[in-house]
Amino acid sequence: MNQRASIKQPDDASTWSPTSWQSRPAAQQAVYRDPAALARAVEALGRLPPIVVSWEIEALRRQIADAQRGERFLLQGGDCAESLADCESGQIARKLKILLQMSLVLLHGLKKPVIRVGRFAGQYAKPRTTENETRGEVTLPVYRGDLVNRPGFTAEDREPDPELLLRAYERAALTLNFVRALIDGGFADLHHPEYWDLDFMHHSPSRDQYRQIVNSISDSLDFFEAISGSRVHEASRAPFYASHEALHLHYEQAQTRYIERKGYWYNLSTHLPWIGLRTADLDGAHVEYCRGIRNPVGVKVGPSMDAAWVQGLCRALNPQAEYGRLVLIHRMGAANVDSKLLPLIEAVRATEIPVLWVCDPMHGNTETTSSGVKTRRFDNIVAELESSVRIHREAGSYLGGVHFELTGEDVTECTGGARGLADGDLARAYRTTVDPRLNCEQALELAMRIAANARSV
Ligand code: PEP
Ligand code: CO
Repeated sequence: MNQRASIKQPDDASTWSPTSWQSRPAAQQAVYRDPAALARAVEALGRLPPIVVSWEIEALRRQIADAQRGERFLLQGGDCAESLADCESGQIARKLKILLQMSLVLLHGLKKPVIRVGRFAGQYAKPRTTENETRGEVTLPVYRGDLVNRPGFTAEDREPDPELLLRAYERAALTLNFVRALIDGGFADLHHPEYWDLDFMHHSPSRDQYRQIVNSISDSLDFFEAISGSRVHEASRAPFYASHEALHLHYEQAQTRYIERKGYWYNLSTHLPWIGLRTADLDGAHVEYCRGIRNPVGVKVGPSMDAAWVQGLCRALNPQAEYGRLVLIHRMGAANVDSKLLPLIEAVRATEIPVLWVCDPMHGNTETTSSGVKTRRFDNIVAELESSVRIHREAGSYLGGVHFELTGEDVTECTGGARGLADGDLARAYRTTVDPRLNCEQALELAMRIAANARSV
């Protein structure tokens, strides 16, 4: 038998390949001065072993399919942009700790297993609003993330450097290697939530409530294990999945592999790539690339999108209407969500294509303070989340996940929260190179609000 005959390709497969995106307009791509050097870096990247494997991607697809049926909840979170310099054990462990604490609170409140997805191990490329940045008399190319160039404001720093593709890939592998080792070693075990304590949370306003949740889960586990005589498997082994914005298409292409025994193309640089709002054009290169891979794919859905656009995305990215394939991450902003979300839920329903709806309450709520600092207000984040839950519920739809920019560090980048951070506090520990993140206290408080909201219905 002709072996190729058994290959499962996307619809319109004759025109798809890992490089077919190159014939489409690709927004947000860096311009490399030396294309031969870029080609060498991409080739070297393609020879390196993958960061993830196909059976993990298949497992995530099954979990996302469960979530679409309302049986699981997805928690996706991490930095807006990872940096090469922050690839160190303390920061990675603290990020895992806050995600674990949040997933525990969500598990307890929603009574569903939580799919944990980090914005990490590859979140190194950023879309930008402008091509250039001007300071005084000097105009330079904008910083596009550590995958592309450097944040310093010199011509040398801002020159896209193909070697950074390799440096970032190595850091991504180091990050996920450490995450996997921690999980395998029992770090995520629900029997030992004390492993996830974060020092500065001892004075947190949410601390007592969190302790009660931990104790209640411990009691439930003890009870179940006593009567069943066996350990709860998922309590000790639930993995973390990796995700990043599939922005730099040469980077994504390099690790796109055909797995013969499965009969599909996979992007093996991450489990869950997503398409950002600025690169979601139906005819664009990013949609073209993502339609051909077997990974579950996320797409950001913003207030500028109309019904036809979102329906077009569903048809392009999930033509076979498969469960476990498409994650729509809406980020409308607290001011827009009431008017914009419902028509899109209805438009997607009309396609009969299954999706997992996830709310990103961060990116539609970015603002600049009077002194020019980019921030987000906790109240707006909560408001968008609560409205989203209600709108889905009233529409007979299911909000199956949340997407946050957060850190395990004690930063001051978003205002509000139980400690009432004000604009004037932002300067104290403002560290992000791109968007403002929730600090660990604010992140935990948000998880508690989601859990409380679920209990109140
Ligand atoms: C992001 O997730 O960091 C981002 C840039 O989001 P969006 O594409 O929704 O603006
Ligand atoms: Co961001």
